[in-house]
Amino acid sequence: MLKEIKSDIYHLMHPKMAFFLTSISKDGKPNVMTCAWATPVSEEPPIVIVCVSKEAHTARLIKETKEFGINIPTKELLKALWICGRSSGRDTDKFKMAGLKILPSRKIKPPLIEGCAGYIECRVKKIVEAGECYAFFGDVLTALAREEYLNRGLWSERAGIPLHLGGSRIVYFR
Ligand SMILES: Cc1cc2nc3c(=O)[nH]c(=O)nc-3n(C[C@H](O)[C@H](O)[C@H](O)COP(=O)(O)O)c2cc1C
Repeated sequence: MLKEIKSDIYHLMHPKMAFFLTSISKDGKPNVMTCAWATPVSEEPPIVIVCVSKEAHTARLIKETKEFGINIPTKELLKALWICGRSSGRDTDKFKMAGLKILPSRKIKPPLIEGCAGYIECRVKKIVEAGECYAFFGDVLTALAREEYLNRGLWSERAGIPLHLGGSRIVYFR
């Protein structure tokens, strides 16, 4: 029997990888938030989209400096993933709060996060308003993956990439 879904329609489109989205202010103060609404949209050239609530501090920072970093965690970073998804960098230093160590980025100003399985550094090429979110289209400037977590170019089960089901539920890719 088919059940009509009236709210939280996004649940039907999960699980989705949950990752750390890093950004930075004009005066050099970095921020990190947990994000799951993201997708590649083009391979040639490589373009990705991240969808961020207009109310998130991150949205303000990405609009301001036009760069962002995608940091793909392993399951060791699960606790930090929840912390960065439940508090705002407007009034807290989430790097400190979540015990995250900064890894210098190569081509963008926002820093990356030490210990992740992969990284994508992006520069904003277009911003689309979509309901309560901004969809930030980003040109991929560089992408890096930790070799030991790859199996012929694809994520291996070893990485334990977190997949967000919705609400407070996360499962692991295995
Ligand atoms: C698993 C998980 C996934 C999330 N995905 C998104 C998302 O895709 N887009 C979004 O705007 N917020 C998402 N959030 C909520 C933000 O992380 C949260 O609002 C955060 O406090 C924003 O931080 P900021 O104000 O420092 O930018 C998610 C939270 C969790 C726990």
